[in-house]
Amino acid sequence: MRPVLLLLASLGLAAAENGIDAWLRYAALPCDVRKSASVPARIVALNGTQTSPVYTAGQELHKGIQGILHKDLPVTNTSVNGSSITIGTVNAFASTGHVLPELDLTGDGFWLSIKNDSVQIAGQNERGALYGTFQYLSMLAQGNFTEVTYESNPSAPIRWVNQWDNMDDTGTHGSIERGYAGPSIFFAEGLIVEDLTRVSQYARLMASIGLNGIIVNNVNANVNLLNSTNMAGLGRIADAMRPWGVRMGISLNFDSPRTLGKLTTADPLDQGVIEWWDDIATKLHGHVPDFAGVLVKANSESQPGPLTYNRTLADGANLFARAIKPHGDAIVMFRAFVYDNTINETNWKADRANAAVDFFRDLDGKFDDNVIVQIKYGPIDFQVREPVSPLFAHLEQTGTVIELQVTQEYLGQQCHLVYLPPLWKTILNFDMKVDGQPSLVRDIVSGERFNQKLAGYAAVVNVGTDKSWLGSHLAMSNFYAYGRLAWNPTSDDVAILEDWTRLTFGSDRTIIDTITKMSMESWPAHENYTGNLGIQSLTDITGPHYGPKPQSQDGNGWGQWTRADAKSIGMDRTVWNGTGYSGQYPPEVASMFENIESTPDDLLLWFHHVPYTQQLKSGKTVIQHFYDAHYDGAAVAQTFPEQWKAVKGLVDAERYDEVAFRLEYQAGHALVWRDAINDFYFNMSSIKDEQGRVGNHPWRIEAEDMTLDGYTIIRVDPFETASGFHAIRTTSNTTAGTATAKLDERFEAGTYDIAVNYFDVKGGRASYELFLNGKSLGTWLGNHEDKLGYTASPYPDGHSATRIYFRGVEAAKGDVLKIVGQPDGGEQAPLDYVSVLPSGTID
Ligand code: GCU
Repeated sequence: MRPVLLLLASLGLAAAENGIDAWLRYAALPCDVRKSASVPARIVALNGTQTSPVYTAGQELHKGIQGILHKDLPVTNTSVNGSSITIGTVNAFASTGHVLPELDLTGDGFWLSIKNDSVQIAGQNERGALYGTFQYLSMLAQGNFTEVTYESNPSAPIRWVNQWDNMDDTGTHGSIERGYAGPSIFFAEGLIVEDLTRVSQYARLMASIGLNGIIVNNVNANVNLLNSTNMAGLGRIADAMRPWGVRMGISLNFDSPRTLGKLTTADPLDQGVIEWWDDIATKLHGHVPDFAGVLVKANSESQPGPLTYNRTLADGANLFARAIKPHGDAIVMFRAFVYDNTINETNWKADRANAAVDFFRDLDGKFDDNVIVQIKYGPIDFQVREPVSPLFAHLEQTGTVIELQVTQEYLGQQCHLVYLPPLWKTILNFDMKVDGQPSLVRDIVSGERFNQKLAGYAAVVNVGTDKSWLGSHLAMSNFYAYGRLAWNPTSDDVAILEDWTRLTFGSDRTIIDTITKMSMESWPAHENYTGNLGIQSLTDITGPHYGPKPQSQDGNGWGQWTRADAKSIGMDRTVWNGTGYSGQYPPEVASMFENIESTPDDLLLWFHHVPYTQQLKSGKTVIQHFYDAHYDGAAVAQTFPEQWKAVKGLVDAERYDEVAFRLEYQAGHALVWRDAINDFYFNMSSIKDEQGRVGNHPWRIEAEDMTLDGYTIIRVDPFETASGFHAIRTTSNTTAGTATAKLDERFEAGTYDIAVNYFDVKGGRASYELFLNGKSLGTWLGNHEDKLGYTASPYPDGHSATRIYFRGVEAAKGDVLKIVGQPDGGEQAPLDYVSVLPSGTID
């Protein structure tokens, strides 16, 4: 231990941490626990080849025990008698004379036996041995020294990560589609980066949670990945990940034979095209002998595909399947995310949700045996609430993989805490009742229900170069939980979270309870303040998918429609009167969704078009539920910053502050969401909130009502994302403006929390100062570019709207509030309103 750490430890303070080690910190256990802990005397890893996961396991165990217990165990690669931790494959155990009990291990499974001075970790394969080692380390790191003996097998053979990293030929760094943690760890300037340290660290994280494969580039694939320099680079990536048992694959662009190969066609049945792909597969295999496979997005969102050549999607998938077949056990993951994004909303029966079943139902049985269909969990696109994709019930002769999203594209983009396992488990535990038999989604994607050899999980993760991997420390619980659930989808989501918390932040009960409570409240809260009753995430679907913009759902061909008008809302997806989507489910499920009475409230508007006054099972009307849910959800988010304060001093200051900043930000943005959605539907329906809250803000002073000097009033677009639909911005790009207001009779003398709502737009770092009676209460910068690590919108809108607090201010009527805003280029210090809040009030 370095002296500074010793000093901090002796003072009982947690050392600063940046999150790079995530849940693999191997933090020292308390001294008394360390002293009483006993582990065997040496580590025996039954493979001395440095690229072997068993060798890696030995090294990792050495490092872990050194950190956790301050013990420096010798590592050998040959079997010895006496006190030891032995790691190897079942075969290696047998060939070195170890007698193991009869085991029933499947691919990647392991057997772990911990008995006083003998620990044995036997993998069905080398990867399994590494997984068992991580399991043992996880126990040690959590101070768990119980003697156990058990076998553990993964639920499914495919447990992959998808990265949506771009090659970015011209930029210096590879950007990441829907990535919120900086540029790519794989690509820069159209090439594979030289230094692959982060890549191997990523593989380590993946291995520790049982993930065994990765697709490294965006599904919207750049053909240049297949040029000869990059093929060699792919070999380097695979080399960096192999010691961790992670196999690498890539996304392909269907048109590559034309764009890169200069052929006249990409027709999957054309002999020249077939030969072109055969050649590519041979070359890839030359660089990456254990190539995992290819991911293909075809005929979707303007991507080319076989339909362009009047061939079926199966023809397209089989083209790749046959090209890779001679080279090992690589697979084709063919995405079911195929749909037309130019459908016509005036057609009542048009429905994007129907697309996957329409396209794939008749193809069951037509795919080669090394093709697997990758299906997003819902039929639209990673929404806060969707029913399970009905396609899972239709592919009985084809392996399927469920596609989840760790990157929170529609769910707050890692700036909001949303713990996703409760959402995933709702999907995985859904019973499709195929042929009237129990058919849980998790049993379909494990391959069990339809007896498929190839099946499993893929999640879009999109880590970036930020030290925290996902841009947010708390968001990493989703990545951890993804691996744990892919291994065992019946695991308890709270138990997983508690393990993650102990490993990431320590075992203090307050830390565990605080993170558990906030995390378990987070998905319901987010659903409440974004989109309820199955209406989907009411975000800007033609923009960054972040802040509120419900009007973007309708009036375009993307098909994420709400069909909201002055009287009614929701998609009629019934068979009798609507798009027929509900009929895509097996009969028992179909009849549940076909009828309003049996459709659960949380999916009502997904399946039915109803008046705003429709009564829910709760007794509320649809519109009142909207209003109440938005107030309730935002109120929960307001408690997060306060809850987090309980762990101050218990976790290191660096991560404490970073999390605190995001939770405070989330609380403010949840109010933006609440007001935008409520104002929008109040405006549309003209139905008043029974509780009189919507459109009524007793403690606000609108910026447009202040006395302005150097500021001008603007209309904000979309209107509902500014209080009073207006805001102000400076009249120049260089000269400061001031906005002044006298506190009126609402404000009796007392202590107030002053909240300023402003817009932190992309393209500058404006500075602000707030004064009361000429005395400065504080300054701040519009620098979310730096602090949230991603750039929001260049305009004042629902993406950029945000709030800052100045708490505990003594004020009284007649006092003068003044804000000075100094523009910085395109960021013209925009302001929306000031709330002067009596203690405990939210407005
Ligand atoms: C969503 C997402 C896109 C992505 C697409 C896909 O539409 O917004 O960025 O390319 O899904 O999964 O292919």
